[in-house]
Amino acid sequence: MSATLINAVKTKFIETFKQEPILVFSPGRINIIGEHTDYNDGFVFPAAVDKGIAAAIQKSDSGTSTAYATDKDSKIEFALDKLKPSKEGNWENYVFGVVAEIQNRNKTIGNFNIAFKGDIPGGAGMSSSAALENSVVFGLNELFNLGLTKHEMILISQKAEHNYVGVNCGIMDQYASMFGIENNALLLDCRTVESKPYEIDFKDHQLMLINTNVKHSLSDSAYNDRRSACESIAKLLNIKALRDATEADLETVKDKVTPENYQKALYVIQENERAMKASKAIEDNDLETLGALIYGSHNGLQHQYKVSCDELDFLVDQAKANKQVLGARMMGGGFGGCTINLVSKKEAKAFAETASIAYKKEFNKECSVYFIKLSEGTHLVTQ
Ligand code: GLA
Repeated sequence: MSATLINAVKTKFIETFKQEPILVFSPGRINIIGEHTDYNDGFVFPAAVDKGIAAAIQKSDSGTSTAYATDKDSKIEFALDKLKPSKEGNWENYVFGVVAEIQNRNKTIGNFNIAFKGDIPGGAGMSSSAALENSVVFGLNELFNLGLTKHEMILISQKAEHNYVGVNCGIMDQYASMFGIENNALLLDCRTVESKPYEIDFKDHQLMLINTNVKHSLSDSAYNDRRSACESIAKLLNIKALRDATEADLETVKDKVTPENYQKALYVIQENERAMKASKAIEDNDLETLGALIYGSHNGLQHQYKVSCDELDFLVDQAKANKQVLGARMMGGGFGGCTINLVSKKEAKAFAETASIAYKKEFNKECSVYFIKLSEGTHLVTQ
């Protein structure tokens, strides 16, 4: 977590609202493997990182509430009893959604002021949205003594995303952001919503992100469509979710689904297996196998689940051309954002440079490289 980020948001808050706030930091996340498995009740392998959203929040006695997105220099005043979603794509939906979902649980909050600032760009596939939702719910829980557990808070954040933002997301992002543990990744069972921490020390290798700096439009509807496709196949198989299916089960309904949807369900079943195998590879310190699984994940996301894009595929091909990169894949919902790379420490910088130059040449735009630390989940910041 960056002290500069925290200080900047605190200063803005005090300037704007003339009061002392409480401060919350809520991290973004990476995901080693297990993509688009969370809403199929499957396994994912995320970790919170040292970048995210810093929020400053305090009760308001002005009779209204105000939210301030300092990066956009955009402020909005609202009444707690008249909440409804704003236009699709507007940032305030994250705040309104959380407030509305808290109220839906018959918890009472009073007026408040909040300012926030982030150091992960939206659309990077690093869950700046979950980080923001979690910062709001965590801050309000603290301020108004709501007595919510972390599990309740992430369900509120997720519902805000469903009902106010319009993305029928799974639970991975909110979970990783809230429950992150320093130096650990979490093998999360999205059915039980319980995780097992794995201390990550890849010795002479490390994880590194490269952001394509693109986010293709329609990604939200494409996401929701895929979720529905998975659910309809699970229904056809008479199971609760695709997590319960084997490849052999899927064969039995092959002629009842489109070839495209068959491939999507097959991807989910295989990706779930890859996530389990990855945890074993980490336990065995077998990075070659882990890397191969990561490349396998990208292959499935690109060709079967079809959520990649040219820019992501290009960066993964750059990785494949370098023997020091053991694995690379797109990360998060897809259609843009980052690749995650498992690369030898001594090669990381050189690979980042080569890939960046090649990317610029190919697309005539810059990509960004992030070196990240696995960090603690959403927490109060005391100064
Ligand atoms: C987005 C969603 C998550 C998850 C990933 C894909 O980040 O918010 O719930 O589905 O995409 O793994």
